[in-house]
Amino acid sequence: MASNSIKLYLLLILALVRCSKAELGELKETSMTIYFQDQYGGPNATVAQILPENPDGHLSFKKFGAIFCTDDLVTEGFDVSSTQVARAQGVYITSALDGSNTHVLVSIVFNNGEFKGSTLEVQGASAQFERVREVAVVGGTGKFRFARGYVTFETIHINSAANLAVIQCNITVLHY
Ligand SMILES: *[C@@H]1O[C@H](CO)[C@@H](O)[C@H](O)[C@H]1NC(C)=O
Ligand SMILES: *[C@@H]1O[C@H](CO)[C@@H](O)[C@H](O)[C@H]1NC(C)=O
Repeated sequence: MASNSIKLYLLLILALVRCSKAELGELKETSMTIYFQDQYGGPNATVAQILPENPDGHLSFKKFGAIFCTDDLVTEGFDVSSTQVARAQGVYITSALDGSNTHVLVSIVFNNGEFKGSTLEVQGASAQFERVREVAVVGGTGKFRFARGYVTFETIHINSAANLAVIQCNITVLHY
Protein backbone atom coordinates (compact mmCIF):
# COMPACT_ATOMS: atom_id res chain seq x y z
CA MET A 1 0.00 0.00 0.00
CA ALA A 2 2.53 2.53 1.23
CA SER A 3 4.98 1.79 -1.58
CA ASN A 4 2.16 2.05 -4.14
CA SER A 5 1.20 5.52 -2.99
CA ILE A 6 4.88 6.54 -3.03
CA LYS A 7 5.05 5.33 -6.65
CA LEU A 8 1.96 7.33 -7.52
CA TYR A 9 3.44 10.37 -5.83
CA LEU A 10 6.71 10.05 -7.79
CA LEU A 11 4.77 9.70 -11.05
CA LEU A 12 2.87 12.87 -10.24
CA ILE A 13 6.09 14.77 -9.57
CA LEU A 14 7.57 13.46 -12.82
CA ALA A 15 4.46 14.60 -14.71
CA LEU A 16 4.69 18.05 -13.13
CA VAL A 17 8.38 18.39 -14.04
CA ARG A 18 7.60 17.32 -17.61
CA CYS A 19 4.79 19.86 -17.87
CA SER A 20 6.90 22.79 -16.71
CA LYS A 21 9.71 21.81 -19.09
CA ALA A 22 7.29 21.71 -21.99
CA GLU A 23 6.05 25.23 -21.14
CA LEU A 24 9.58 26.67 -21.17
CA GLY A 25 10.25 25.45 -24.69
CA GLU A 26 13.65 25.21 -26.33
CA LEU A 27 16.79 26.84 -24.97
CA LYS A 28 17.98 29.54 -27.40
CA GLU A 29 21.28 31.33 -27.75
CA THR A 30 21.35 35.07 -28.48
CA SER A 31 24.49 37.07 -29.22
CA MET A 32 24.71 40.76 -29.92
CA THR A 33 27.10 43.69 -29.87
CA ILE A 34 25.87 46.97 -28.41
CA TYR A 35 27.56 50.18 -27.27
CA PHE A 36 27.40 51.89 -23.85
CA GLN A 37 27.73 55.66 -24.24
CA ASP A 38 29.28 56.48 -20.88
CA GLN A 39 29.05 60.21 -20.21
CA TYR A 40 31.45 60.40 -17.27
CA GLY A 41 31.37 64.17 -16.68
CA GLY A 42 29.76 67.46 -17.60
CA PRO A 43 26.17 68.64 -17.15
CA ASN A 44 24.66 65.52 -18.74
CA ALA A 45 26.79 62.91 -16.97
CA THR A 46 25.28 59.40 -16.94
CA VAL A 47 27.48 58.22 -14.09
CA ALA A 48 27.44 59.76 -10.62
CA GLN A 49 29.73 59.02 -7.71
CA ILE A 50 27.62 58.38 -4.61
CA LEU A 51 30.48 57.86 -2.15
CA PRO A 52 32.90 59.29 -1.26
CA GLU A 53 31.49 62.76 -1.88
CA ASN A 54 33.33 64.53 -4.69
CA PRO A 55 32.56 68.25 -4.79
CA ASP A 56 35.09 68.77 -7.62
CA GLY A 57 33.37 66.10 -9.75
CA HIS A 58 36.48 63.92 -9.83
CA LEU A 59 35.60 60.19 -9.99
CA SER A 60 37.73 57.96 -7.75
CA PHE A 61 37.35 54.57 -9.46
CA LYS A 62 40.43 53.17 -7.66
CA LYS A 63 39.19 53.92 -4.15
CA PHE A 64 38.07 50.81 -2.27
CA GLY A 65 34.38 51.22 -1.35
CA ALA A 66 33.64 53.96 -3.89
CA ILE A 67 30.05 53.64 -5.12
CA PHE A 68 28.78 54.81 -8.50
CA CYS A 69 25.32 54.95 -10.00
CA THR A 70 24.91 54.77 -13.76
CA ASP A 71 22.27 55.25 -16.45
CA ASP A 72 24.16 55.01 -19.75
CA LEU A 73 22.54 55.36 -23.14
CA VAL A 74 23.03 52.08 -25.05
CA THR A 75 23.11 52.23 -28.84
CA GLU A 76 23.06 49.76 -31.71
CA GLY A 77 26.14 51.28 -33.30
CA PHE A 78 29.38 52.87 -32.20
CA ASP A 79 28.14 56.41 -32.88
CA VAL A 80 26.38 58.16 -30.00
CA SER A 81 23.65 59.28 -32.43
CA SER A 82 22.95 55.76 -33.72
CA THR A 83 19.69 54.00 -32.80
CA GLN A 84 19.05 53.65 -29.09
CA VAL A 85 18.38 50.07 -27.94
CA ALA A 86 18.56 50.29 -24.15
CA ARG A 87 19.68 52.05 -20.99
CA ALA A 88 22.29 50.43 -18.73
CA GLN A 89 21.08 51.21 -15.23
CA GLY A 90 22.60 50.16 -11.93
CA VAL A 91 25.48 50.55 -9.56
CA TYR A 92 29.09 49.51 -9.32
CA ILE A 93 31.32 49.47 -6.31
CA THR A 94 35.11 49.32 -6.19
CA SER A 95 35.38 45.99 -4.43
CA ALA A 96 39.11 45.10 -4.52
CA LEU A 97 41.27 46.61 -1.79
CA ASP A 98 43.85 47.60 -4.40
CA GLY A 99 41.13 49.13 -6.61
CA SER A 100 41.62 46.68 -9.48
CA ASN A 101 38.11 45.20 -9.44
CA THR A 102 34.73 46.81 -9.40
CA HIS A 103 31.58 44.87 -8.56
CA VAL A 104 29.00 45.47 -11.28
CA LEU A 105 25.24 45.29 -10.65
CA VAL A 106 23.72 46.62 -13.84
CA SER A 107 20.47 45.97 -15.72
CA ILE A 108 20.42 46.37 -19.48
CA VAL A 109 16.91 47.73 -19.92
CA PHE A 110 15.95 47.28 -23.57
CA ASN A 111 13.61 50.09 -24.63
CA ASN A 112 13.65 49.82 -28.42
CA GLY A 113 13.88 47.21 -31.16
CA GLU A 114 13.56 43.43 -30.99
CA PHE A 115 14.08 43.14 -27.22
CA LYS A 116 12.06 46.18 -26.14
CA GLY A 117 10.55 45.51 -22.71
CA SER A 118 13.09 42.83 -21.76
CA THR A 119 16.03 43.14 -19.38
CA LEU A 120 19.34 41.41 -18.70
CA GLU A 121 21.05 41.38 -15.32
CA VAL A 122 24.82 41.80 -15.47
CA GLN A 123 26.54 41.00 -12.19
CA GLY A 124 30.05 40.24 -11.01
CA ALA A 125 33.63 41.31 -10.57
CA SER A 126 35.01 43.41 -13.41
CA ALA A 127 38.76 43.93 -13.76
CA GLN A 128 38.05 47.58 -14.44
CA PHE A 129 41.48 48.60 -15.78
CA GLU A 130 41.90 45.62 -18.16
CA ARG A 131 41.35 46.15 -21.87
CA VAL A 132 38.59 43.50 -21.91
CA ARG A 133 36.39 42.84 -18.87
CA GLU A 134 34.16 39.79 -18.71
CA VAL A 135 31.13 39.78 -16.40
CA ALA A 136 28.39 37.19 -15.88
CA VAL A 137 24.78 37.54 -16.99
CA VAL A 138 22.82 36.05 -14.11
CA GLY A 139 19.25 36.50 -15.25
CA GLY A 140 16.74 38.35 -17.34
CA THR A 141 13.10 39.14 -17.96
CA GLY A 142 10.74 39.22 -20.93
CA LYS A 143 12.40 37.52 -23.91
CA PHE A 144 15.38 36.80 -21.64
CA ARG A 145 13.63 34.81 -18.91
CA PHE A 146 16.05 32.38 -17.20
CA ALA A 147 18.98 33.97 -19.05
CA ARG A 148 22.49 32.78 -18.26
CA GLY A 149 25.63 33.89 -20.00
CA TYR A 150 28.31 36.51 -20.10
CA VAL A 151 29.21 39.89 -21.51
CA THR A 152 32.54 41.40 -22.46
CA PHE A 153 33.19 45.11 -22.08
CA GLU A 154 35.90 46.91 -24.03
CA THR A 155 36.39 50.68 -23.97
CA ILE A 156 37.05 51.37 -27.62
CA HIS A 157 36.93 55.16 -27.69
CA ILE A 158 37.41 58.05 -25.27
CA ASN A 159 36.55 61.64 -26.20
CA SER A 160 37.90 63.60 -23.24
CA ALA A 161 36.63 66.94 -24.59
CA ALA A 162 33.07 65.53 -24.51
CA ASN A 163 33.63 63.42 -21.33
CA LEU A 164 32.42 60.42 -23.32
CA ALA A 165 33.70 56.84 -23.23
CA VAL A 166 32.26 54.34 -25.72
CA ILE A 167 32.22 50.80 -24.39
CA GLN A 168 31.64 47.90 -26.76
CA CYS A 169 29.52 45.27 -25.03
CA ASN A 170 29.31 41.77 -26.54
CA ILE A 171 26.53 39.69 -25.04
CA THR A 172 26.14 35.90 -25.25
CA VAL A 173 23.16 34.43 -23.41
CA LEU A 174 21.17 31.22 -23.27
CA HIS A 175 17.49 31.74 -22.52
CA TYR A 176 14.07 30.27 -23.28
C1 LIG B 1 22.94 68.43 -22.20
O1 LIG B 1 21.63 68.04 -22.57
C2 LIG B 1 20.83 69.13 -23.03
C3 LIG B 1 19.41 68.59 -23.22
O2 LIG B 1 19.40 67.44 -24.01
C4 LIG B 1 21.44 69.70 -24.30
O3 LIG B 1 20.66 70.77 -24.77
C5 LIG B 1 22.86 70.16 -24.00
O4 LIG B 1 23.48 70.58 -25.20
C6 LIG B 1 23.68 69.05 -23.37
N1 LIG B 1 24.96 69.56 -22.95
C7 LIG B 1 26.12 68.96 -23.26
C8 LIG B 1 27.35 69.63 -22.76
O5 LIG B 1 26.17 67.91 -23.86
C1 LIG C 1 33.02 41.90 -29.79
O1 LIG C 1 32.38 41.69 -31.04
C2 LIG C 1 32.98 42.40 -32.13
C3 LIG C 1 32.19 42.14 -33.38
O2 LIG C 1 30.89 41.85 -33.18
C4 LIG C 1 34.39 41.93 -32.29
O3 LIG C 1 35.01 42.68 -33.32
C5 LIG C 1 35.18 42.13 -30.99
O4 LIG C 1 36.48 41.61 -31.10
C6 LIG C 1 34.45 41.43 -29.85
N1 LIG C 1 35.14 41.76 -28.59
C7 LIG C 1 35.55 40.84 -27.73
C8 LIG C 1 36.23 41.31 -26.51
O5 LIG C 1 35.38 39.64 -27.92
